[in-house]
Amino acid sequence: MPDTHVPAPPSAPGALPLLGHAVPLLRAPGRFLESLPSRGPLVQVRLGPFRALVVCDPELTRRVLVDDRVFDKGGPLFDRGREALGSGILTCPHSTHRRQRRLTQPAFHPGRLPAYSVTMAHRIGRVAHRWQDGRVVDVLAEMQDLTASVTTATMFGDRSLDVPPTELAEDFDTLSRSLYRRTLLPRFLDRLPTPGNRRYLRARGRLRHTVGRFVADCRRHREDRGDLLSMLVGPHGSAEEATSGDHLSHDEVTDQVTAFFIAGIETVAATLAWSFHLLGGHPGVEERLHAEVDSVLRDVPATYEDLPRLAFTKRVVTETLRLYPPVWLLTRRVTTDTVLGGCRLPTGTAVVYSPFLLHRMPGLHQDPDCFDPDRWEPERARSMRREALIPFGGGPRKCMGDTFGMTESVLALATFARRWRLLPVPGTRVRPAPGGILNPRGLRMRTRLRTPCADG
Ligand code: HEM
Repeated sequence: MPDTHVPAPPSAPGALPLLGHAVPLLRAPGRFLESLPSRGPLVQVRLGPFRALVVCDPELTRRVLVDDRVFDKGGPLFDRGREALGSGILTCPHSTHRRQRRLTQPAFHPGRLPAYSVTMAHRIGRVAHRWQDGRVVDVLAEMQDLTASVTTATMFGDRSLDVPPTELAEDFDTLSRSLYRRTLLPRFLDRLPTPGNRRYLRARGRLRHTVGRFVADCRRHREDRGDLLSMLVGPHGSAEEATSGDHLSHDEVTDQVTAFFIAGIETVAATLAWSFHLLGGHPGVEERLHAEVDSVLRDVPATYEDLPRLAFTKRVVTETLRLYPPVWLLTRRVTTDTVLGGCRLPTGTAVVYSPFLLHRMPGLHQDPDCFDPDRWEPERARSMRREALIPFGGGPRKCMGDTFGMTESVLALATFARRWRLLPVPGTRVRPAPGGILNPRGLRMRTRLRTPCADG
């Protein structure tokens, strides 16, 4: 243990009574986070009534990510997350995580990716054909529709159970928005019968009921239809049961499906929306992207087989994830007294780590605010520190859908870029909107059909 004279970490300025730093974190989260590292490797903030330590140093962030026994899932965001989503793999504590990961990981086995990609390409192609030339579109909403459709199809296959296609997406969207706000604001506000609280409760109840119906249907039939749900319930579950008696119960599968949805829909949608925004402001990069997709794709949609030749498209996605990591702020709870960066952290301390903060650190990136996909050329990327790019987190709790999400993003970006340009609409102002996910607020762009493809 260090001596007791070690000074406490400095506090971020500007906390308000009751709200703490909720106001800058809601209004200008990027500016607020970027201002913290100059104060020290650990900085105290207040999230509503909670105190938390923001980790502003790459080495310390790694320790937090790797040592998930001491820095367990918890803290305001995940405590609230469990209320909304149950205790699936995304939110569960260390004590149940290894078992959950072992039972869910097979759903993301690389061998299943070609089949998921066929479903992805089909859905992406449908949307790319539906757009009309010269329209102004709400890019984020379009991408959310797309990724909700992809996730529903890869998750449930052709089971429909008469659930309106937009219902699930709407409910997940409501939960995800409410989650961040509820994390930052005092708990007594939950009990007020405000329209927001009512919407949240309705979405939570309806979602659990709907997902539960899909799970029950799948458990009844127990056949591998190539979708994610079959993998969670069917042959995987029965094989495990047969050998070890270990399987996911109905409620656990419902929690996992909910976790996959919340983790998969908005993250990929935000990535794609930010990519279009960045390309709209960087015509030189856009031209190079067009050159690549025109030479690789004879027609749309892009397919799994095209991926190895879409290297520049992948670099555009990676650079977008660096500048606008959708999962930009996460919390952990210290489970036993420990020392981090020379500071004593008592049990119960809430810790925040932020991909956004590290991705914009001048010490980790040259010109960190500049959109430069070439920084991910293999030769240049080799010299980067591992913590310089953590859009999918790291350590044992690293994103399980990272390859799935990258595949979906590259297939979608290549397909749209082959067929469409999205032009900025003069006079619109796009800003990062803080929420559970870092979304581009106000992103409206005009569609412009490029040379028609072989398929018309
Ligand atoms: C661009 C897309 C995505 C991004 C940026 C992203 C980001 C992340 C991050 C940062 C974490 C770690 C959270 C933490 O440290 O507390 C995470 C965890 C997770 N993600 Fe993703 N994700 C993406 C796509 C997906 C998709 C498509 C799925 C599934 C369909 C998915 C499923 C998961 C799961 C299950 C976990 C929990 C893993 C565990 O705790 O063992 N993600 N994701």
